[in-house]
Amino acid sequence: MKPQTAPLIVRTALREAFAQLRAAGVPSHTLAAELLLMHALGRDRTWLYAHPEEVIRDSEVHLFTSLLARRAAGEPTQHLTGKQEFWSLEFEVTPDVLIPRPETEHVIEVALDRLGVREIRAGHKQTFSGEGLQITDVGTGSGCIAIALAKELPGARIYATDISSAALAVARRNAARHSVSDRIHFLESNLLDEASHSSLFFDLIVSNPPYIGRREAATLMREVRDHEPEIALYGGEEGYELYAELIAQAAVKLKPGGILVLELGHNSLPAVQPLLDAPLWTNVGVANDLAGIPRVIAAERL
Ligand SMILES: C[S@@+](CC[C@H](N)C(=O)[O-])C[C@H]1O[C@@H](n2cnc3c(N)ncnc32)[C@H](O)[C@@H]1O
Repeated sequence: MKPQTAPLIVRTALREAFAQLRAAGVPSHTLAAELLLMHALGRDRTWLYAHPEEVIRDSEVHLFTSLLARRAAGEPTQHLTGKQEFWSLEFEVTPDVLIPRPETEHVIEVALDRLGVREIRAGHKQTFSGEGLQITDVGTGSGCIAIALAKELPGARIYATDISSAALAVARRNAARHSVSDRIHFLESNLLDEASHSSLFFDLIVSNPPYIGRREAATLMREVRDHEPEIALYGGEEGYELYAELIAQAAVKLKPGGILVLELGHNSLPAVQPLLDAPLWTNVGVANDLAGIPRVIAAERL
């Protein structure tokens, strides 16, 4: 933002912010500027565009100016506003968790579809609350998958693991925010290690594991590489290293007929699909994301 000589109004603030973020090479710079101004003013987008002549208070100008500078330097918008929407729910995000991505919503869609088909096959009614289902989300991060499933399936009991205690603290706060704390049990664990000592068996295991290859790190956007947790990004040198252990554990912990739904990295499919062969697995299916990339693989335990 330029130093202000006259009172700053909303229209000018937005115009200058668009120019500053565009010049800094910020992706989706218009949206980022809008979200930061909405955050600084505590207003929604409708208000911004309905009040272009409104004068912005000095304290809000200072806040907006500092947010813009941090965004221009590469901090993700969600770290500055502290939130991200996923499955039409608002989640707290901090630098300790992966920012929920829209493509991860396909994991929820596939999981709900698979459970629905299973219910129809079992002769139950099509709309169901997930009564009695045991579900686990491995690598829960912000808790977005576990919490979205808890909202969709109010009768299900959900376990959510993460190797990061800092991520679990955020996930617990998100569960409380969405009033599902009593139905999600959070567990610090390497993959399903902790569950493997228990007598728990699951109807559904979902996971969006870290799947970026360390050798791809230089190709990542600075917002991702420099600001999101490494433990949430990298699956190993190639990226797909965690799937083999996760699928082996899932084979042990799923009930017969239980469903596994995994998000895939853009090049994970050739490495992951062969791990879901007979005799342990059947009904393997792959769903593409909106960009046509194979994004979710699902299979049923025989
Ligand atoms: C790609 S993020 C996904 C977060 C969230 N589920 C989502 O979809 O936005 C992967 C998560 O797995 C966790 N993680 C990484 N390695 C793990 C491991 N070996 N066992 C359990 N969790 C792990 C990370 O801390 C991170 O929260």
